[in-house]
Amino acid sequence: MNQPVMGGVVSINAPTYIKHQKLINWVAEVAALTKPDRIYWCDGSQDEYDRLCAEMVASGTMKKLNDAKRPNSYLACSDPSDVARVEDRTFICSEKQEDAGPTNNWMPPAKMRTTLHDLFDGCMRGRTMYVVPFSMGPLGSPIAHIGVELSDSPYVAVNMRIMTRMGKAVYEVLGATGEFVPCVHTVGAPLAANQKDVPWPCNPTKYIVHYPETREIWSYGSGYGGNALLGKKCFALRIASTMGRDQGWLAEHMLILGVESPEGKKHYVAAAFPSACGKTNFAMLIPPKTFEGWKVTTIGDDIAWIKPGKDGRLYAINPEAGYFGVAPGTNTATNSNCMASLTANTIFTNVALTDDGDVWWEGMTKQAPDHLIDWQGKDWTPEIAKETGRKAAHPNARFTVSATQNPVLDPAWDDPAGVPISAFIFGGRRSTTVPLVTEARNWVEGVYMAATMGSETTAAAAGQQGVVRRDPFAMLPFMGYNMSDYFQHWLDMGKKIESSGAVQPNIYCVNWFRTDENGKFVWPGFGDNMRVLKWMLDRIEGKANGVENVFGTTPEFGDLKWDGIEFTQQQFDRITSIDKDAWEAELKLHAELFDKLKYHLPKELEEAKAQLEKRLAA
Ligand code: GTP
Ligand code: SPV
Ligand code: MN
Repeated sequence: MNQPVMGGVVSINAPTYIKHQKLINWVAEVAALTKPDRIYWCDGSQDEYDRLCAEMVASGTMKKLNDAKRPNSYLACSDPSDVARVEDRTFICSEKQEDAGPTNNWMPPAKMRTTLHDLFDGCMRGRTMYVVPFSMGPLGSPIAHIGVELSDSPYVAVNMRIMTRMGKAVYEVLGATGEFVPCVHTVGAPLAANQKDVPWPCNPTKYIVHYPETREIWSYGSGYGGNALLGKKCFALRIASTMGRDQGWLAEHMLILGVESPEGKKHYVAAAFPSACGKTNFAMLIPPKTFEGWKVTTIGDDIAWIKPGKDGRLYAINPEAGYFGVAPGTNTATNSNCMASLTANTIFTNVALTDDGDVWWEGMTKQAPDHLIDWQGKDWTPEIAKETGRKAAHPNARFTVSATQNPVLDPAWDDPAGVPISAFIFGGRRSTTVPLVTEARNWVEGVYMAATMGSETTAAAAGQQGVVRRDPFAMLPFMGYNMSDYFQHWLDMGKKIESSGAVQPNIYCVNWFRTDENGKFVWPGFGDNMRVLKWMLDRIEGKANGVENVFGTTPEFGDLKWDGIEFTQQQFDRITSIDKDAWEAELKLHAELFDKLKYHLPKELEEAKAQLEKRLAA
């Protein structure tokens, strides 16, 4: 179905099973602008996936891993300049600047359209434009939304097949008139006649653009992750958050997990941690051996769409179908469920290649292999690493894998009805100040905690790392509208649940990342986070104690289950202590944030802050 250029105009040649004329016209329009050599309509089949991967192996974009070691798996290594989301190049182009708010980059839509029109003109020359139809959420379900991504990257096409429900069946759902979010993506690297391609084409100029009013996404210049797989952050968070605001639901940067007690009581919780702060790991948590009978199962690892149900409770679905997870740090000791997911049918990006054709990354095994080809294609040995500090895998190296390969996938992960949420957890990466766990005394206090959350920046986004910044609801880079209006939306949601007579989910704030004087994490984390999770569930069931402090309710040492671990009261104090000076400084940062967000900032949050200041001063 690869159509040759005909007289300089590409043949559209839409498959006859597509009945949506508007969609076909849009594809023709984008093709007329971007001028690809051919158009390829993805059907989502395994054959197609295998063929595209084989083509990328032939062109040098991917390597096939050793089938005896890692069947049907590939390694792609990106251009060294294209390794993470680019937040400073991400724009929310609403008609009014205040609708994008002070936390987003903004440009008037008309001006941005002019800029992009020039950039996209001829941007796909020499390349194939892939038409990638996808559903966020189960196909045909009333909560799902459909998108179509036009991309000149085959890497995007195969990743989208894993990350979303991608393929032909989407057109059946769309019919002749169904709604879809148009997503246009280019690596921004047109090829002149006879110009040889590079393994990872991209452009130093990058634009990740959202038009919330018309629900469109245009992405230019990057082939990596959230910049390019437009169903994920661009659609399922930035565009979906504005849909949620208008329609009364929530699109959140949250994992969703199920946790069942030995008595068979099951709860679902949703947790928002910023990028590279532990969502995938928490979603696949393996309880300590001494927690006999406790089971944790995964609904999703990154994004939750949450809607009020008929009973007034909140129901969550995972709109994605796969995981685009952080590789470094993943190993069998801390997350064997994740490692088991990656044994086959996985695309790895920017990890290192072993001499026997398998993959490796920092933290995968205690001892590094004697020799590797690193993510930049260079020889790597432990000695070289010691001398130069060069990493074998990029810190934001990732795996792309289907959710169905997760051994602890929850049976309801695909249920269009979603799962009822008993608790929300918010957590940042903080080496100091923030205690292990705090329970909000009420919804407003919980919203305040989430709104003022700070976290150290990570390799998931381009830019400086390890810098504490406010990251409200772990949504700072993913908000599609004004942050203060979003806070109000959360407060309204709480009131709505309350007035329905349903029980509001408890809200918790956690921090797994306090360090000691040597910079080592004090809390063991990973499976041991179960100890905190159990306390939360026991609180929900009215079975656990805690003490009230300035921020909310926290457990005392004796309130957590410590079987199977040597963890002293002294260590516990190190990660739960509240340093008054540090908190006074922290409160100043809350004040700075609120000053920045003063337009439409809910009064209730200002009041919550005043209360907090009063208690801290007492
Ligand atoms: P995104 O995919 O970017 O949204 O990241 P994420 O929130 O899913 O984070 P992920 O679970 O991939 O973890 C990121 C890094 O933090 C990995 O290197 C993990 O090994 C590490 N990590 C995860 N959980 C814990 C924990 O409980 N304690 C410690 N110390 N590290 C953790
Ligand atoms: C994140 O950065 O939160 C991710 C990775 O989940 S990306 O898909 O690149 O946004
Ligand atoms: Mn994420």
